[in-house]
This record gives sequence, structure tokens and C-alpha cells, in this order.
Amino acid sequence: MAINVAIVGATGAVGVEFMEVLARRNFPVGKLTLLASKRSAGTTLPFKGQQITVQELTADSFKGHDLALFSAGSGVSKQYRQACVEAGCLMVDNSSAFRMEDGVPLVVPEINPGEAAKALQRNGGKGVIANPNCSTIIALMALAPLHREAGIKRLVAATYQAASGAGHAAMVELQESTRAALDGKPFTPKVLPLPYAFNLFPHNSPWIEAEGYCEEEIKLRKETHKILGDSRPRITATCVRVPVLRAHSEALNVEFERPLNVARAYEVLRQAVGVTVREDRAANRWPMPLEVSGHDNVQVGRIRVDTSNPNTLDIWVVGDQLLKGAALNAVQCAEVALLGKLAPNANP
Ligand code: A2P
Repeated sequence: MAINVAIVGATGAVGVEFMEVLARRNFPVGKLTLLASKRSAGTTLPFKGQQITVQELTADSFKGHDLALFSAGSGVSKQYRQACVEAGCLMVDNSSAFRMEDGVPLVVPEINPGEAAKALQRNGGKGVIANPNCSTIIALMALAPLHREAGIKRLVAATYQAASGAGHAAMVELQESTRAALDGKPFTPKVLPLPYAFNLFPHNSPWIEAEGYCEEEIKLRKETHKILGDSRPRITATCVRVPVLRAHSEALNVEFERPLNVARAYEVLRQAVGVTVREDRAANRWPMPLEVSGHDNVQVGRIRVDTSNPNTLDIWVVGDQLLKGAALNAVQCAEVALLGKLAPNANP
């Protein structure tokens, strides 16, 4: 079985990872078409030892393809959804454009794989699968198994989000502004709204006056409810950008409905697919962005009893934003929908 794949946003931070992940998981790629804006048309990118020429995205780009992996922003996703689906091509969309739309499944394959298949059946073999927000995916890799075990009553999340979530240009800006700061040179931010080197700031997504949170914090609540299929957990989040290149860290304070101790929480997480427990109390070593970067699994550790509140645990979770937070999860969605099964993580 060969699947013809189009990548929209192939020159971006996530686009490049789509290619890596497809190759690493031996996804049965037939034809591969790389698409980006007019600016990048004609440049070449490597895939499995071949150089593939990037083409300008147009409404005709999807003909003859079975799968389109989108990561070029919400505007591009909205503009090309119809052309993609009408061409009979499954759209797996990394943007936030359709995540909360009724009938569009929001999928983390280890958690709700059945949703992907249902959506395809409803749409006669075509349709859209939305890839969730990166912080939400990474948190839920740890939280969904614990929710099944003991029921989450309330979650207080604090995120430490990497530059990659704002795209390739933001990663470059972090590097260049750090270099400038070390050299004592002035630097004017162009991509992010504030100085990033040796700094951090609350997430730069729009402030939503009616809710009193920024959009990223609202996504974490609403998308968690949709993915779990359960809107009972009460959730609040503070999302922060930190000067880290590509892995998000999160401190999760989680109150459970039913008793859950630290040992049982670790046992549940050791059995969870796509999760690595990393805890070395003697050496005081826990999951860290530098060690998680480039790895498929989300790492969890530092689980403690919150002594200030009954039946509550504090949990530390770190995941590669470009992999499980974006490209890996999207390719896994395609695996579940089109191949009916998940390949094992090749680089846990
Ligand atoms: P390009 O490189 O031609 O600008 P990132 O998330 O790292 O910022 O990457 C965004 C990706 O989306 C890039 O591949 C970019 O292509 C692509 N992109 C942005 N705008 C468009 C557009 N209007 N049509 C097609 N691709 C786009």
C-alpha cells in the first residue's frame, strides 16, 4: 500500500519534522509533494536521500494525493480545506482552525484513536482531523491515563513553552538575540513581541477579554475537555514562553476524584504508550527540555503529593514540541486513520 502525501508548510519548523517522522516510522509514502508559499518555490529539501523541489501551494495541489499534512497557519488551512477534501485527500491539520468544530475529531492517537476512524466513516473516506495544541497534547499524554485511573477533578497547569511553537523564525530569533546579548549588541525583536534572550513572558497569543485568559490558556482547557470526551475536570492554566528551543515543560497540579498515590501514578504511567518515566531522586534528575528534544516519547517525573490539598499530586512533564506536540502526533493520526494502527515510536 502506497500513500501519496502532500506537506503544506514543508519549509517550516514542523514541515521539516513531518518528513523526518514519515521516514523514521517507515510510513508507506508513494509520491511526496512539498508545498509552501511562492517565496520558497524551487528550493529543495531532502527526503530519504533524494532532493525534492518545493512547489507553490495552489488549489490544484491536492489532486492525486491521499493525505495532506498541514502546518502553515490557520489562514492557509481555512483557505485550502475545501480544495483538499474535494480532491479526496485526508487533511491532518496542525493549526487551530478546526479544532473545536463539531464533527472534526481532535485526536491524540494514544488517547482517543477511535475518533479518527469515526470521522473518516462519516465523511466517506475523506475529511479533516485536527491536531491538538502542543501543550495540551504533552499534558494529556500524562494526564489521560491518570484520568482513567482516578478521575481528574481539577487541574492547575503552568507551562514553560519553547520558541518552536512560534515557528522556525522564532527559533532563529532566540538564537540570534542570545548571541547579540552575549556580544553586548543591541537586538530588536522582529518575530516575538518582547525580548526573549535571558527573559520569559506570558504567552503571546491574543488576550481574550471575555474569558480573562490568553488564547493558549483557553485552548488547554477546551481541547482537554474535547479530547477526554469529558468536560467535568475544572482547569486553569498559566502559559509562559521560556528561552528554550524546542521542548515544552509543564508543572501540573492535579486533584483527583478517587484516591491515587505516587507509586500507583508511576505504575500507570510506566504502562502508558508513548510515555517515559524519568526520575532519579538520588541524583535529583528529572525530565529536561534538552534531554527530551528529538525524542518521540513524552517524559514524566517528579510526582509528589501536594500536601496543601487532599488527594492531589504535582507532576512534571516535558515533551518535544515539534514531535509529539506537532509532527509526530499528526503522522500518528494519519497512521490510525489510513493504516488502522500505530507504528511503535522509533526514537522513544
Ligand atoms: P514559506 O517558507 O514559503 O514562507 P513556520 O511555522 O516555521 O513559521 O513555517 C510556516 C510554513 O508555512 C512555511 O513552510 C511557510 O512557507 C508556509 N506558509 C506560510 N504562508 C503560506 C502560504 N500563504 N501558502 C503556503 N505556505 C505558506
